[in-house]
Amino acid sequence: MLGKYFKHQLLEKIAASAGTPVYVYSAPVFLKQIAAYKKAFRSLDPLFCYAMKANSSGALCALAAGEGLGADVVSGGELYRALRAGFAPDKIIFSGVGKTAAELEYALAAGILLINAESFEEVLELERAAARLKKPAPFSLRINPDVDPHTHKFISTGRLDSKFGVPFTEAEKIYMYAAGSKHLRPVGAQFHIGSQVHSSAPYALAAGRLAAFLLKLASRGVNLNYADVGGGWGVREGAEMADPSALAAAVGGAFKGAGLKIIVEPGRSIAAPSGALLTSVLYRKRGGRKNFLIVDAAMNDLIRPALYGARHPVALVGTGGGEKNVYDIVGPVCESGDFLAQDVVLREPAGGRLLVVYSAGAYGFSMSSQYNSRPRAAEALITGPSSWRLIRRRENYKDLVALEVL
Ligand code: LLP
Repeated sequence: MLGKYFKHQLLEKIAASAGTPVYVYSAPVFLKQIAAYKKAFRSLDPLFCYAMKANSSGALCALAAGEGLGADVVSGGELYRALRAGFAPDKIIFSGVGKTAAELEYALAAGILLINAESFEEVLELERAAARLKKPAPFSLRINPDVDPHTHKFISTGRLDSKFGVPFTEAEKIYMYAAGSKHLRPVGAQFHIGSQVHSSAPYALAAGRLAAFLLKLASRGVNLNYADVGGGWGVREGAEMADPSALAAAVGGAFKGAGLKIIVEPGRSIAAPSGALLTSVLYRKRGGRKNFLIVDAAMNDLIRPALYGARHPVALVGTGGGEKNVYDIVGPVCESGDFLAQDVVLREPAGGRLLVVYSAGAYGFSMSSQYNSRPRAAEALITGPSSWRLIRRRENYKDLVALEVL
């Protein structure tokens, strides 16, 4: 389904020039997903904060910033990248369960919209940072609404056994404390129940609980401006994002008439369909029980299949190939968990042939590493029907050791 956006001729050109493995992103697809969000949510007019953890490439972030989106960052490093890519500081929010004092100061000094705090102790740290900087700290609390999003357990975040957020009872105490502090400005409340959520029902449940809590808080004299509903719509590997109107309706329904600005932090749904990983076949091998295609990309480039059992569609670039067969597509890393796809049916490609792995635009490069001392892949951006440019050069051996001292 995504193949139409990644024309084989262009992929061949990119691979010939940039080498493989290379991540290839499509600017038109990235912008299309953003447009779909704006359309579905138009009556709510929320602030979209692109979740940079999905893909923090400067070129993609600059596209999001150009569309008027804000950014959701989860580290000082992401904040640095966000500012560099041109996101307006007053549209940046800072999430994450363990921000350091230095990161809190950096965020305050940069004048970002708000900090999503996740514990009483963090709020106290923020208060001290604000006092040092003599700058009041606008913050939102991440509240754990105890809702099951029915997703992979590693990316489920809204149950009470999760490390994220605080329960409603604790939140109330924190807001009452903050209301009396001269350095803290409680401006919002947030929840994030998980990633890869394909149903609006858990959002409706969480938003309803948050809305009821905010009414209670208002009755105690604390009135907030922002309600943040966390990450975006799930998106199936191999597909574009499904229409997020149901998500908009669930959120809009819960906060109707509350006079709050809604914040949404989509990452995957914008970035995943926009990116593909191009890799070359190195060798073919018939194992005792399986056929293997050994390729030049590995789990250090794309860890999602190994970590979450994600099934990314793979296709042979160009026509031809031998007999159809069932293959495991594996990389050169010394681990049996190093596979990009298992049991896929393909026409047998000769060595040197290109394979394309779809839906790799989110949590692909951003989760990549140099494991096995493999330099990280290059990144390229398709800008038009036959135009593209390199947006990150391939790392080399010198990059691997550049920071080391012998
Ligand atoms: N906001 C917060 C506070 C988050 O923790 C996340 C994702 C998002 C927004 C963005 O959610 P999205 O729109 O992308 O669903 N590495 C995993 C996904 C981890 C998601 C973590 N949090 C994967 O590859 O599936």
